[in-house]
Amino acid sequence: MSITYPRQVRLIDVGPRDGLQNEKSPVPAEVKIGLVHRLQQAGLKEIEVTSYVSPKWVPQMADNHEVMSGIERQPGVRYSVLTPNLKGYEASLADRPDEVVVFGSASEAFSQKNINCSIAESIERFAPVVEAARAQGIAVRGAMSCTVGCPYEGEVAPERVAYLAGLLKGIGVQRVDVADTIGVGTPLKVQRAVEATLQHFAIDDVSGHFHDTYGQALSNTLAALQMGVWNFQSSVAGLGGCPYAKGATGNVATEDVVYLLHGLGIDTGIDLDRLIDAGAYVSDFLGRKPNSRVATAVLNKRAG
Ligand code: HMG
Ligand code: MG
Repeated sequence: MSITYPRQVRLIDVGPRDGLQNEKSPVPAEVKIGLVHRLQQAGLKEIEVTSYVSPKWVPQMADNHEVMSGIERQPGVRYSVLTPNLKGYEASLADRPDEVVVFGSASEAFSQKNINCSIAESIERFAPVVEAARAQGIAVRGAMSCTVGCPYEGEVAPERVAYLAGLLKGIGVQRVDVADTIGVGTPLKVQRAVEATLQHFAIDDVSGHFHDTYGQALSNTLAALQMGVWNFQSSVAGLGGCPYAKGATGNVATEDVVYLLHGLGIDTGIDLDRLIDAGAYVSDFLGRKPNSRVATAVLNKRAG
């Protein structure tokens, strides 16, 4: 067998942001802070904490300042936040994010539904954010939604992904996420989306962000790993979904990805047991079981 895998993988846990943005009932800032603390204790080196978006659009993230300022930061951990425009970026500055994330879409319809503007307009809004952040020494990531499928337009062609990646590169975004927002992707489709992104970004600057709606996210992760992708986003306890992508479930569970990676002999720096504790903590608060097969298996084993 000649398949080679990266020796090391960097995971960004997006649970506190992507995970909790879609919860029906409010989650107190204190619980979000508790979750971030447990994630860093488990060895996560990157955590997507919150977003600076309109509280009318996403009320669950209205406590962004309280959450960011309440975290006891650990050296060596990167805390990132979503900022769709200058207003969001400026609001985030008081909270000293290590990285800001502008978020665009490969599909026009999703861009309109999610951020109320066209792809071209979104780039105009992102450009000053990127410029200001880079000037202030803050890293900039670009999320690319709907890189394989869109809830409004159906299948999305790889050319659309290449187009968006080129625009983001053009305004100075440093690295990008290839997101399967609604979890419809299968390995070859995801590989095509990654390939399209590689026209503009180096493999080290591309991360996989796979929602697990159709149960394909682990397979898609493996397919991306086989291309050399070594940065991935996932959500502890499989939390989440996007309020503007109806029916889409959470990101692939971090616990499941870690189990896969460790089984492949890939280093993550993450302690699976402590990660499962972090997932159990937030799941207990939400009154449900973690949406992770690995967490369920380990918790059952512990109980037995
Ligand atoms: P808009 O209505 O076009 O904005 O919304 P506007 O500039 O016309 O302003 C309208 C009002 O919003 C004004 O307030 C502004 O001050 C306020 P008003 O005068 O009516 O009281 N406003 C803001 N408030 C706080 N923070 C801001 C901000 N900007 C304007 N940054 C906007 C445009 C982008 C703001 C809106 O559409 C929005 O907030 N959308 C939220 C989208 C979102 O958070 N979606 C979920 C995250 S994306 C995701 O989950 C996908 C991802 O995981 C990858 C994947 O899986 O695909 C990343
Ligand atoms: Mg997402």
